[in-house]
Amino acid sequence: MSTLNRRQWLHRVGWGSALSLIGSNIGLRANASMIATPQAASLTGSPAPLCFNENPFGPSQQVRQAITSAYDDCCRYPFQFIKPLVQMIADREGVTSDQVVITGGSTEGLKMTGLVYGMERGEVVAPDPTFQALLSYAESMGSYIHRVQLDADLNHDLEAMEARITGATRLIFVCNPNNPTGVMIDRKTLRDFTLAVDNRAVVFIDEAYIDYVTDPQHKSAVELVKEGHNVIVSRTFSKVYGLAGLRIGYLIARPDIAKRLLQYQMVSVSVPAIRAAQVALNETDFYADSLRRNLEAKNYVYKLFKTLDLQYVPSHTNFVFFKTGRDISELNQQMLAEGVRVGRPFPPLTDWCRVSTGRMEDMKLFAKALRKVLG
Ligand SMILES: Cc1ncc(COP(=O)(O)O)c(C=O)c1O
Repeated sequence: MSTLNRRQWLHRVGWGSALSLIGSNIGLRANASMIATPQAASLTGSPAPLCFNENPFGPSQQVRQAITSAYDDCCRYPFQFIKPLVQMIADREGVTSDQVVITGGSTEGLKMTGLVYGMERGEVVAPDPTFQALLSYAESMGSYIHRVQLDADLNHDLEAMEARITGATRLIFVCNPNNPTGVMIDRKTLRDFTLAVDNRAVVFIDEAYIDYVTDPQHKSAVELVKEGHNVIVSRTFSKVYGLAGLRIGYLIARPDIAKRLLQYQMVSVSVPAIRAAQVALNETDFYADSLRRNLEAKNYVYKLFKTLDLQYVPSHTNFVFFKTGRDISELNQQMLAEGVRVGRPFPPLTDWCRVSTGRMEDMKLFAKALRKVLG
């Protein structure tokens, strides 16, 4: 059905009937395949969305079904439905339910933390560049952010970060693996760092991309929370689970820290988001398929970069950071003109570019555009 026809059809049958038809159609298709197909991806067409590190294959068919079934409870407030999800996450992570804070995407968790530790001019130490949500929120609370440049390997410079801790430091931000570089701090190094600093400030560890880490030795920093350390870990359903548009994530922290953070939550997540997360956590096929497709796209761009003799950083995420030697603002525009949207500038690395993995047809479009733009 073309977009125009679909619109005309919706006008004719009305949204209510359309939604129930779509719902029943999903039910039928779910039996045939529980894994989302590339056709399920939204935002297809131009420009190819390779800029926000989303998973275009989600939501899976089972999750779509859970979302439509949740309509029946959308007349109710979500706090009545959140407990089973909290318990489910607590069981999976091996913590107690008072250590889990469900948030609107992990961004809400990052902002809540930025607010709590940034107020009263609390200082924050963070790598640079990294994901900004917590830092810009803390900054708006009057916090001073010590931005510590990444080292020569584009990893966190943990030694330099420790050296920037002052008596006013309230929080140390770690992004593992880091956005925009895709570089990961290994388990022991992060453990040693955390144990050396967590008596001076809370260590926040953003694990938005941990699902993509393939090293079997690597473990979530939740193990540090379980040992009672001064640590907050954030996770999201936006990446491998393909639920960025639903806005759901969570924090794991010591009960006293979790309780404090909860006091600053603005709203609860929605009923469909809760139900979607519950189903998503139990789905192994879609999860594995998303990882497989991500690896396929990553290997494709690695090969491209080798052919074009471009430096890139092997990535533990669903994006790859590579050096073009061109100003990224200019490159952004040139790639857009070729129908591809890549990541924004990440100063001071302004001659690097971040490309998200996506559908193979979009990756091919990216390759074609990059070849043309770089001549
Ligand atoms: C490192 C990192 N943390 C957190 C997020 C926020 O994700 P969400 O709010 O969708 O959970 C992102 C989004 O790209 C990210 O890259």
